[in-house]
Amino acid sequence: MSLLGIMSKRCSTRQFTDKPIPCSAVDAMLWSAVRAPSGANAQNQRFHVYRMSDEINNLGDIRTPIIRRAACVIAVFIDTEHLQIPDGEESIWAFLNEQNAAASLMSMALVATSCHIGNCWISLNKSMDGTRVLKGTLAEMFPGIDLDRYEPHGLLLLGYPKSADFHDYPRSEESHCGRPVARRPVLEYII
Ligand SMILES: Cc1cc2nc3c(=O)[nH]c(=O)nc-3n(C[C@H](O)[C@H](O)[C@H](O)COP(=O)(O)O)c2cc1C
Repeated sequence: MSLLGIMSKRCSTRQFTDKPIPCSAVDAMLWSAVRAPSGANAQNQRFHVYRMSDEINNLGDIRTPIIRRAACVIAVFIDTEHLQIPDGEESIWAFLNEQNAAASLMSMALVATSCHIGNCWISLNKSMDGTRVLKGTLAEMFPGIDLDRYEPHGLLLLGYPKSADFHDYPRSEESHCGRPVARRPVLEYII
């Protein structure tokens, strides 16, 4: 299918079967993530792949129970020690780093879709620590990962969808957060 065709099929999927995700598909997603552009060519996006159900359940216990349904989760981090940041430019780089990680996440979502794998982007940020958004801490969510160096940016939930369309691509939900998922005409986005 063409790239525009895959983009038309991409949607957030939150109901998954137990069918495992092939390593070849995860490899393709990681390849696409590394191919994403990065501000000042920092290439500081980092990834951790979760396949074990107890680890995935732990992520879900702390962030949102939806995560527990995934067969595989790719966590996206920012390597904050990768670059020497000039004094006074920390906030500029924090902003660029988030965009780098987001670019990788989007690439992976499209590759997952092209493999007929349902996916959902779950946001994460250190500002969530201590808020109602987390039922624990980021440290509890990512034991064994040096969070002073690797800042969590987001999760990509992966799983074969419980509901698929005629061509076996994940079927979109009609609404989320009280708003229809269907997009308005492009002209309405132009300012
Ligand atoms: C930055 C970002 C953060 C998101 N965080 C969440 C999230 O925490 N939980 C969730 O269920 N969906 C999350 N989503 C998915 C959005 O809800 C979804 O993209 C939106 O409802 C449009 O639906 P669609 O992806 O099917 O087109 C996130 C998407 C983005 C881009």
